[in-house]
Amino acid sequence: MSEEVRLLIVDEDEGHAQDMYGRVANTLPQYLHITPPEVRREIARLEPDIVLLQEPSDESGLQLLHYISNELPDAVVIYLTNHRDPIKTRDLNRAGAFDILFVPEEITALGDVLNRAVKALKVQQKVKAEVSAGFTWGRGQVGTFYSGKGGCGCSLVSATLAQTLQLDSNSSVLLVDLNLQYGGVETYLDVNHERSIYDLTPVLKELNDNHIRNVTAIEKESHMEVLVSPRDAEIAEQITEEHVQRLLRTARLYYDYILVDLPTEMNPIVYAALEEADKMFYLMTPDAPSIRTFGQVMDLYSKINVDPTDRLELILNRISKETELREKDVKQHFDFPILAELREDAKRVQQAINQGKPLRTGYKGKSSVFLKDIKKLADSLLERHSNRSAS
Ligand SMILES: Nc1ncnc2c1ncn2[C@@H]1O[C@H](COP(=O)(O)OP(=O)(O)OP(=O)(O)O)[C@@H](O)[C@H]1O
Ligand SMILES: [Mg+2]
Repeated sequence: MSEEVRLLIVDEDEGHAQDMYGRVANTLPQYLHITPPEVRREIARLEPDIVLLQEPSDESGLQLLHYISNELPDAVVIYLTNHRDPIKTRDLNRAGAFDILFVPEEITALGDVLNRAVKALKVQQKVKAEVSAGFTWGRGQVGTFYSGKGGCGCSLVSATLAQTLQLDSNSSVLLVDLNLQYGGVETYLDVNHERSIYDLTPVLKELNDNHIRNVTAIEKESHMEVLVSPRDAEIAEQITEEHVQRLLRTARLYYDYILVDLPTEMNPIVYAALEEADKMFYLMTPDAPSIRTFGQVMDLYSKINVDPTDRLELILNRISKETELREKDVKQHFDFPILAELREDAKRVQQAINQGKPLRTGYKGKSSVFLKDIKKLADSLLERHSNRSAS
């Protein structure tokens, strides 16, 4: 794919263009260069997939971006500017910039941005192929991972399952961490990112897939997208139900699976996510306190009008030989389907956490039983998906 991607650099200075290309040459094997005045004459003929647009000195950058977006709506335009100006940034986002890089400070991020751009193109092409083949089934499933009791595995399971869904199928997966204060999924994935859901604020009313891709990190192992938590109490306070609602509704249009890791406490953010969910996965460890908490959560749901009917499925986690309560015991208490039983794998899970690596990364020894169970779960979800498409 990367070999077929046509990269165009628009820059007043050919030497500078070459320099920029030097940073991404290992992602894309070739490029073309034109100057800003040549854009109107050449852009339709060259038909690039990705454009690196270095802001011209005469302030015509925004106009050029509009022109390119109109001529080539499918092209991905990365805008490079020397000036940080929030109003201009908003206008550039509105004009369809895939990403905006402030140079020279952010030039080192160019490689990552380009990788994301290539991935976005792939997704775009896949959507087009599906639409022309007449099926857009199964896109946009939102699944939340919640438990009323902390430490039951919401972050570990959502992160590992998201990675597995992405690796084992050609679906596009978005993992959203709504543990806004403290984060969660980055403990289990090697992702670190400056941007978060909060950075969507200026474009919330007109949110599109490019805006979302602008703020997600790419997980290196699977190339899934992760919207990491801001991990900041002050920022967390400024995130509203509207952020969550608009994010998930827009993401539905562009991703196959959207997995949302939720914190334990019930708050308006969690409520908004549960309201949007097609599937509410409830994580439970097989012990009496967990079962009791689940009962309390069900009471709370009914008080605040969250309807779990046909949406809630249980995932039993940390099953071991010593486990006292099994599927049948849980079934006795509640009338919800049990989607999966995931085994305890203290050694491997702990090893991965200590090394700061995802469980799925290059482990050479005996495969983890937890990972095996996650793979089984991913297979059953993917199978459901394809059954739905067949019917
Ligand atoms: N199947 C498993 N095998 C081994 N250890 C596990 C398993 N599931 C969870 N753990 C352990 O439990 C810890 C807590 O898991 P996790 O962070 O996913 O829980 P959580 O529900 O997200 O908790 P929090 O309330 O802190 O957000 C993990 O760090 C890991 O050590
Ligand atoms: Mg967590």
